Amino acid sequence: SPFSAHEEKLIVDLWAKVDVASCGGDALTRMLIIYPWKRRYFEHFGKLSTDQDVLHNEKIREHGKKVLASFGEAVKHLDNIKGHFAHLSKLHFEKFHVDCENFKLLGDIILVVLGMHHPKDFTVQTHAAFQKLARHVAAALSAEYH
Ligand code: HEM
Repeated sequence: SPFSAHEEKLIVDLWAKVDVASCGGDALTRMLIIYPWKRRYFEHFGKLSTDQDVLHNEKIREHGKKVLASFGEAVKHLDNIKGHFAHLSKLHFEKFHVDCENFKLLGDIILVVLGMHHPKDFTVQTHAAFQKLARHVAAALSAEYH
């Protein structure tokens, strides 16, 4: 694993407390409000014209939960993040046509949301460990792009 035993502990300990539905919903809605043009990837999820539409769109919140649950799978596969996400990388490239740049943007927003939901736990060391995790997840999701 590219993570030290200490980094692994910080990641596993905080992750055990994370409410995936609420943090995942917050992260994806924030991405679509901060970068409104990214809404085009989710046009089939219904009305997303205004920020309020995004905040109250159930399909977006559900998808945010799915995405963060998937991100959380990395925590169980710290020694093989690339292998774990290979299929999902192919899907994002071939089927969803998502530019890889977005994996970094969403990763950064996930970190902000984790920090907001867990201000006491989100020490600088925990932040650093999660930044490293997000970077590995983004690289793994980009690995099958060509
Ligand atoms: C679908 C995970 C980032 C766009 C999915 C699915 C998962 C997933 C598990 C469902 C795959 C399936 O249907 O079999 C992730 C993870 C991400 C990530 C772990 C990064 C942490 C992104 C970003 C975007 C995006 C940044 C766009 C900006 C999509 C789209 C779909 C999808 C458009 C298909 C939605 C649908 O029609 O159901 N993603 N994703 N993903 N993802 Fe991602």
